Amino acid sequence: MISDRKLQHLEICKNYDVEHTITTGFEDINLVHRSLPEVDYDEIDTSIDFNGKTLDSPLIITAITGGHPESTKINETLATAAENMNIAMGVGSQRAGITNPELKETFTVVRNCAPEAAIIGNIGAPQVEYAYDAIEMLNCDALAIHLNPLQEIIQPEGDINAKGYVDSISEICSNVDIPIIAKETGAGISSQDAKILEDIGVNMIDIEGVGGTSWAAVETYRAENPSLGNLFWDWGITTAVSTVEVLEATNLPVISSGGIRNGLEAAKAIALGADCVGMALPFLKHSYLGHTYVEEKIKQFNRELKTAMFLVGAENIEQLQQKKVIITGKTREVLEQLEIDTKKFARRI
Ligand code: FNR
Repeated sequence: MISDRKLQHLEICKNYDVEHTITTGFEDINLVHRSLPEVDYDEIDTSIDFNGKTLDSPLIITAITGGHPESTKINETLATAAENMNIAMGVGSQRAGITNPELKETFTVVRNCAPEAAIIGNIGAPQVEYAYDAIEMLNCDALAIHLNPLQEIIQPEGDINAKGYVDSISEICSNVDIPIIAKETGAGISSQDAKILEDIGVNMIDIEGVGGTSWAAVETYRAENPSLGNLFWDWGITTAVSTVEVLEATNLPVISSGGIRNGLEAAKAIALGADCVGMALPFLKHSYLGHTYVEEKIKQFNRELKTAMFLVGAENIEQLQQKKVIITGKTREVLEQLEIDTKKFARRI
């Protein structure tokens, strides 16, 4: 049952338009060009520390799949690319692999193909009891707990009782000894929720805002009556707004994600203060072509990011996080309504 749904999700995301009709807001985030960057392109360092592992790029392949025989090949391809390019990778919800041992290999293939890479496990907020098995299954470097109330309410068979999630996430945080990432799935995280997550012991936040894959859209294609899904297709907080909101509200490291499609958008997210970025749908699509295509996509992303770093005069990710940013348009309007000082980004030297 869960397994069939996983296959439908893959096929819908591969073959249909599942993206929001509104954008991430990164078009409102302007990096400031330097005519005197005083940087040697060849010396630009895009590496980051991810929970003790040094990764070559601040790019994460965020949670996509596992739990259906078809996903074994996809995970094998993505994990091979993650290992070869030394970047982090997340797997899809591991529940199916825990409750049905026959499907375990659809996940373990990831660790087999990526013995050194940083791997992020994945479970849903109410599934506390699966946390230990999920970590053990992959010997993962961090565990993402996905938050997806929008998908659940649009999904025909969705779990629509979201009571008690805060307690169960808190329980997971106090019982496991690897970092816990609270991860949305395409509707973004507000400052209010970010504060709650920080207070209960979450170690990192993965934004997954509006502007990329819409899970209301995915579920609309599965629903008998598409009207609810169509109405809520673009529901949520844009990735640019959510990234700033969470960085302002907490001291937690942030993965900016949801609609990130190139290295320039990544540079903008990092200049806002994010530690790294995540991308899912483009990697799913490239995975059908083989791991060399996925690796090419990562190389292209790295070239784009490094080009932006060159043009703003940033030699490493830490310097990029401090660069001048001008926030305009609707993103500025929303942030100002939230009483966030947008001008402080422009006042940076
Ligand atoms: C996902 N995503 C996801 N997230 C999660 O936490 N657990 C999961 O099991 C899945 N499954 C899944 C399947 C498929 C086919 C896709 C495309 C995505 C959500 C994903 O990690 C990400 O949050 C969103 O897709 C938004 O990012 P993009 O696609 O706009 O880069």
